[in-house]
Amino acid sequence: MHRASVLLTPSPDGIDKAADALRAGALVGLPTETVYGLAADARDDAAIAAIFEAKGRPRFNPLIVHLADMEQVSRYAVLTPLGRDLAQAFWPGALTLVLPVLADGPLSPLVTAGHDSVALRVPAHEAARDLLRAFDGPVAAPSANPSGKVSPTSAAHVVEGLGEKVAVILDAGPCEVGVESTIIDARGAVPVLLRAGGLPVEAIEAATGTTCVLPGDPARPIAPGQMSSHYAPRGTMRLNVTTPEPGEVMVGFGDVAGDLTLSASGDLTEAASTLFACLHQLNDMQAERIAVAPIPETGLGRAINDRLRRAAAPRP
Ligand code: TXA
Ligand code: MG
Repeated sequence: MHRASVLLTPSPDGIDKAADALRAGALVGLPTETVYGLAADARDDAAIAAIFEAKGRPRFNPLIVHLADMEQVSRYAVLTPLGRDLAQAFWPGALTLVLPVLADGPLSPLVTAGHDSVALRVPAHEAARDLLRAFDGPVAAPSANPSGKVSPTSAAHVVEGLGEKVAVILDAGPCEVGVESTIIDARGAVPVLLRAGGLPVEAIEAATGTTCVLPGDPARPIAPGQMSSHYAPRGTMRLNVTTPEPGEVMVGFGDVAGDLTLSASGDLTEAASTLFACLHQLNDMQAERIAVAPIPETGLGRAINDRLRRAAAPRP
């Protein structure tokens, strides 16, 4: 048991050490282009249990399995025609596909939470791909934050949230995309949007020539990202504000100025990449009442508004 997490640079030596840590069943802070993941060998029941333990996450939530490339999918899942189209169009990248899991595959049942489907992603981040190739196996990685807290977009956020529960962290600087991957259920003929994220729905619809639908079946597992009051900063939050009330810390966007801003130029890509860092900063400032400028509901704005609405939802 490590007392404190070791920060490694994603050099060949750092990658080897991180791969060894995964082989030893330890938890690794994994940089991806979306957010940092809390990674473990997806075949190792004890290591997966340690992820749930470290996050304080309800056990019924299944985890995303990260792979080095699309060819590895067939070791774990059935690649449907829709899944193949989406993987070819968007992998490596900020897209997670839910597919039928292989009945006698090697994944820990804790990863799928006993469901007959599995969520797979081939990340684009160089350090993540290097580690996945060096490890040469499936890596389960939820976002590396305590359950219900803001997702980490830097190694410092991982240390702050999980501390010595992570054996090693690959520090590759801030995440470029900054919001989690878009999750599509690709088991059927039509893409079902389970979570809006770093890949805009518009891009998926353009590539497949179909319209994404929302899950209608309440028996489906609900992503924790779909629970209210997820991604919550400590202060209360008011959205679509152009003029803050006295005492509110204002988060600006575009022409609406603030004490902090998601993007002074009104750039949604920049806003996505700064969103979680901004929520962390509001905690550091001990902001009690927060107001946020309107964000347009298009492209990445959809994922940003989705996270903001949850951050603003009443707390349990
Ligand atoms: O960008 C990301 O996706 C990051 C990085 C680290 O890859 N990971 C991430 O993982 O956000 P996590 O565990 O915080 O969110 C994974 C989501 C959960 O909401 C979970 O419910 C959903 O994926 N999920 C996993 N397996 C599923 C399945 N078989 N069916 C439906 N949803 C599933
Ligand atoms: Mg998460």
